[in-house]
Amino acid sequence: MGPREFCIDEYTDYLVYSGLAERERDPKLKGILERLAQMEKKHYEFWLRYCPECEGRYRRSSLLLSKLMRRLLGLTFTLKFLERHEEEVIAGYREYLEKVNSNDVEKLREIIRDEEEHEKALMSEVHERIVDYLGSITLGLSDALIELVGVLAGTVAVFKSSFIAGITGLIVGVSASISMAAAAYLQAKNEHKTSPRLSAIFTGISYVLTVILLILPFFLLNIPLQSLTFSILIAVAIVISTSYYTAVIFDRKFVTTFLETAALTLGIGFGVYAFGEAIRLITGINVAV
Ligand SMILES: [Fe+2]
Ligand SMILES: [Fe+2]
Repeated sequence: MGPREFCIDEYTDYLVYSGLAERERDPKLKGILERLAQMEKKHYEFWLRYCPECEGRYRRSSLLLSKLMRRLLGLTFTLKFLERHEEEVIAGYREYLEKVNSNDVEKLREIIRDEEEHEKALMSEVHERIVDYLGSITLGLSDALIELVGVLAGTVAVFKSSFIAGITGLIVGVSASISMAAAAYLQAKNEHKTSPRLSAIFTGISYVLTVILLILPFFLLNIPLQSLTFSILIAVAIVISTSYYTAVIFDRKFVTTFLETAALTLGIGFGVYAFGEAIRLITGINVAV
């Protein structure tokens, strides 16, 4: 990496932050984004002296991606995502410290400080209320995944019927979502951090949505094992996306979060399937719908 990439990078960041600021309705967040944009503009002007032909050049794809991300995944996620990329930039600047003109060394040090401390400090002031409820959402989601994969695998093993498994999943899913919502309500009431009613709503809704996604294959496909395979694939896709989302937001390692949840979900699926087969053999149940 050299001044050319640095310059294009800083101008792109400037456009990203000003774009986010322009669309932001919350005045406090808008102020933070505007300050970030001004900081990046200053950095861009620094590198422009080393690469005058880079004037006004930016990465269109990054700009589009950040806009899309803001819409779909929220401001906190977008900023955390951008912050991850900054680490590379800072490493590049450190290497370049020896190569800039001697009277620019202090200025570049100041830029590195901006990236490392000032931007992080500003970003940490961004607080979206939805992030407080991420715990409730993931609670509903992960519980639904584990419970439903177990129920579906077990019923398929016993009854060998997509329809029976789908209906059982629906009934268990609806009743379990109510019990989980009640649990989330009580937990929030004890912890005093979030509104109990909203926590219950977020947990309940994320639970029901997961249930719908997981039982869908059972109503669309007629071969029980095929439905179960699709349902497990959907479960894995949900685990991948939510693990990535929470890993970015809470600065956790994606792979660990993903492997833990995936192993738990799949382990329970296979375990309960074997349990269901055992029940079928012992009871001699033979139903075909
Ligand atoms: Fe910068
Ligand atoms: Fe930056």
